Amino acid sequence: MSLLFSPLTLRELTLRNRAVVAPMCQYSAQHGFANDWHFVHLGRFALGGFGLVIMEATGVLPEGRISYADLGLWNDDHVGPLKHIVEFLHHENSAAGIQLAHAGRKASTPVAWRHGFDETEEEKPKVAFESWTPVAPSAIIHPSSAPIYTTPREMTLDDIARTVQAFADAARRADEAGFDVVEIHGAHGYLINQFLSPLANHRTDQYGGSRENRMRFALEVARATRAAWPEQKPLFMRISATDAADGGWQVEDSVVLARELTALGVDAIHVSSGGVSSYMLKAAPLYQVPLAKAIKETGATTIAVGLINDPNDAEMILETSEADLVAFARGALEDPNWPIHAHHILDGGEYDLWPKQARERIRAKDRALGIRQA
Ligand SMILES: Cc1cc2nc3c(=O)[nH]c(=O)nc-3n(C[C@H](O)[C@H](O)[C@H](O)COP(=O)(O)O)c2cc1C
Repeated sequence: MSLLFSPLTLRELTLRNRAVVAPMCQYSAQHGFANDWHFVHLGRFALGGFGLVIMEATGVLPEGRISYADLGLWNDDHVGPLKHIVEFLHHENSAAGIQLAHAGRKASTPVAWRHGFDETEEEKPKVAFESWTPVAPSAIIHPSSAPIYTTPREMTLDDIARTVQAFADAARRADEAGFDVVEIHGAHGYLINQFLSPLANHRTDQYGGSRENRMRFALEVARATRAAWPEQKPLFMRISATDAADGGWQVEDSVVLARELTALGVDAIHVSSGGVSSYMLKAAPLYQVPLAKAIKETGATTIAVGLINDPNDAEMILETSEADLVAFARGALEDPNWPIHAHHILDGGEYDLWPKQARERIRAKDRALGIRQA
């Protein structure tokens, strides 16, 4: 059996395999509530055989949403529709994760496929339109050629404490919804990444300046979330291992952060990059895998992500111990049955990942065609 399709246990959670759906914003919620779109979008990944499906960046506070159409978990009322999705994922043998997020200065941006805030006055109430002034470590607008960002307000110490608490409260709600994994979003230039990066954090108090001070917020969030999240359930943190920008956060900084996160009880680090500023890494197949490897060398469990499509590449990443899990975003959208197909390629005539409703029919068809048999 391939490593990719071997189970992995983290705390008391056993994943049926190591293929993970990476979080993907859908810009399809109203007032933070999950709906039929999220149910179908996520449910098909469970039917396709993924071991863990991580739900999109979900705002721990309303002002922490990337857009007004993000999912949210700042209110107990958000739990019910999420629970419905989690139960379906469990029924189809996938574990359910949720990415808890605060966008900081990258909040209140337009829905991805719209042309700016182009909602008409008639449309606004129908889509639950909102826009607001974001908050951030420092009052520095996110640098971008696209005019979609707003100059944020600098967070007070009270704002910081309230936000740390909001991550913990959201984790408690995630547990009520039945999630198996919470992933803290510390990547892609969002709030935690903004605190970490000297490019976005110009504070002069205990949250800015030295690396130790810039890491304080990330570590407080991790500590509070770990305390609120059940002992037996794994906690992940997604990081941008490097800003890949002059004067920015670097891999050496991430190595130090990873050690501290592991000591606090973070069970896996999901290793991405960029998002704070201009970005100098060239996207190419497997381009972020060396970053995952650098973090794994600290002893942390890691998830590799980014332009990984070939099942043999995914298997090689695990075999060479560059990471412990492999995540897919666009590849999962292209082919929600990616694990089923990859399992056939890596392990021959294995049909166990097909839902029972399809399994025997597909096997019979393959027999008739003389393909895929072990
Ligand atoms: C539609 C879409 C939405 C995304 N939303 C999120 C998100 O909510 N949180 C996050 O950390 N990354 C998000 N990402 C980034 C992916 O999780 C992933 O890291 C990135 O796409 C690289 O992986 P890939 O090459 O397999 O697509 C998103 C990517 C896509 C394509």
